[in-house]
Amino acid sequence: MDKAMRLDRFLANAGIGSRKEVKSLIKKQKVKVNNHLVKSFDWEVSEDDFIEVNGEEVQLFKEIYYLLNKPEGYISALEDKYHPTVRELIFDKRKDLIIVGRLDIDTTGALLLTNNGELCHRLLAPRYHVAKKYLVETENKLPNNAQELLEKPMDLGDFITKGAIYEGLDDYHAYLTINEGKFHQVKRMFAKIDAPVIKLKRISFAFLNLDDLKIGEYRPLSNLEIAGLKKLVGL
Ligand code: URA
Repeated sequence: MDKAMRLDRFLANAGIGSRKEVKSLIKKQKVKVNNHLVKSFDWEVSEDDFIEVNGEEVQLFKEIYYLLNKPEGYISALEDKYHPTVRELIFDKRKDLIIVGRLDIDTTGALLLTNNGELCHRLLAPRYHVAKKYLVETENKLPNNAQELLEKPMDLGDFITKGAIYEGLDDYHAYLTINEGKFHQVKRMFAKIDAPVIKLKRISFAFLNLDDLKIGEYRPLSNLEIAGLKKLVGL
C-alpha cells in the first residue's frame, strides 16, 4: 500500500469482513491503530501503522495456511445449503480462504486451506505430481493381485490413471498413494478391482502428515512447511 487507505477499506481488504461488518467492529471499539482505539471509519491508515482487531494484528497481505483433519459429514466447500462445510470448522473468518482440492463428504483426513491462490492452483495441477496418501478399508477381501492391478495404469472410463503406490495391510486395509486427484479416484480404482471402499482417510498431502491432529482439528503450517510446499511447486 503506497498511500493511505481508509480504515474500513483496509480491514475489508484484509479479509476481516464486509464493509458493514468492519464498521460494526470499529463502532464496538474492537479496532486499534498503533495501540489507540479508533472510532471513525474513515481514519486513514498506511502500511506503517500497526492495526489490531480484537487484539490480533491484521496484515493486508497476510498469507494463511491451515491443515485440517476433515471429519465425516462435512463437505469440502465454503458454503452449502444442505450440509455443514469445512469452512465452519475454521475459526479464522477471512473471506479469501480457499480449499486445496476436495475430499468426499464421507472421506476424512488431511485437507489444506489457504488464501494463496497460485499455490493452490499449482498443488492441484497434474504437472507437479503432488502425492496424496490414503488409508482404505474395503467391503470385500482385497484380491491377491491388488498391488499389480492398482499400480499399473487403470482405465476408469473418462481417464487412465498414471500409476499409484499400493501397500497392503491386511485382507481389508491398504494404503494407496496417488499423484493425481480425479473425481472419486480412489473409490473408483478399488471398485474396479471388486473391493468397494467403505472407509477412506487421507493421511497425508505432499509431505504434510496428520500426525496427532484430532478429527475436526486444524493447525497452521510452520514457515518451514510453507517454504517446502512452495518449493515443491516451483514458487
Ligand atoms: N478419492 C476418492 O474417491 N474420494 C476422496 O475423497 C478422495 C480421493
